Amino acid sequence: MTTLLRLDSSARRSRSLTRSLGDNFQREWERQRPQDRWITRDLASEPPAHISEDWISAAFTPATSRTPEQKTVLVPSDRLIDELEEADIILLNAPMYNSGMPSALKAWLDNVVRIGRTFSFDLARGDFPLEAMLSGKQMVLLTSAGEFGFAPGGVRHALDHLVPHVEAIRHYLGAGRLHVIRAEYQEFGDSRHENSVGEARAASMALAKKLARETGTRAPQKGSPT
Ligand SMILES: Cc1cc2nc3c(=O)[nH]c(=O)nc-3n(C[C@H](O)[C@H](O)[C@H](O)COP(=O)(O)O)c2cc1C
Repeated sequence: MTTLLRLDSSARRSRSLTRSLGDNFQREWERQRPQDRWITRDLASEPPAHISEDWISAAFTPATSRTPEQKTVLVPSDRLIDELEEADIILLNAPMYNSGMPSALKAWLDNVVRIGRTFSFDLARGDFPLEAMLSGKQMVLLTSAGEFGFAPGGVRHALDHLVPHVEAIRHYLGAGRLHVIRAEYQEFGDSRHENSVGEARAASMALAKKLARETGTRAPQKGSPT
C-alpha cells in the first residue's frame, strides 16, 4: 500500500484552482489505486503555529535531555513529521502568493524540517554539514498564479520564488524528485487562462496515472536514509 500526503494551502475554500487540480490528481490516483491511503491536511483551515524561540530551543535540545515542557512544545511538529515519514508521495496544492508560497505552507515547512528528525547536522562534513534523514519519496506541486510566464524561460521566471523554494527544500522532506504543474493567467480570465487550466488538469491526471502505475511496479521505500 502506498501512502499519499495531500496538503492544501489556498485560503480559498470554494473556486480554488489548486484545490481543484488536487482533486483531479486524487480522483485519478484513486481510480488507478483505490487501495492506497491518503493523509490530508488543509493548512489554510488549520495553519500550523509559527515556530517560536521555545520551539527552536526544544528542537535543538537532544531528545533524551528535553524537559516535559519542551516535549509538549514539539508535539504538533512531531505529529506533522510522523505524517511526512509515512508518506511515499507528497502532494502540495499551493497557489502563488506575493511571488512565493502561502504562509501556512511555510509554517508547515518550518515545523517539519527539524534537526534529528528530518536532517542531521555534523561539522565533520565540512562546509555542507546538513544531511537529509528521509529518502525515497516523490513530491508533486500543483500551483496556480494570477499572472503568467513563471516557468523557466518565461517572462516572469525571475519573480518565481515558489517553485525554486520548494525545490531547494524537497531534499529535507525526503523527496528525490519534484514534479511541477502550473495553471496561469487567472487574473486575466481569458482564453489563455481557460487553456492553461485545461492543460494543468490534463497534466495532473496524466501524472497521477503515471506515478500510480510506477508505484505499482516498485517496492515502496521510506523512512531511513540511503
Ligand atoms: C494574497 C494573494 C497574493 C497573490 N500574489 C500573486 C503573485 O504574486 N503573482 C501572481 O501571479 N498571482 C498572485 N495571486 C493570484 C493567485 O496566485 C491566483 O489567484 C491563484 O489562482 C490562487 O490559487 P487558488 O485558486 O488555489 O486560490 C495572489 C493572490 C492572492 C489572494
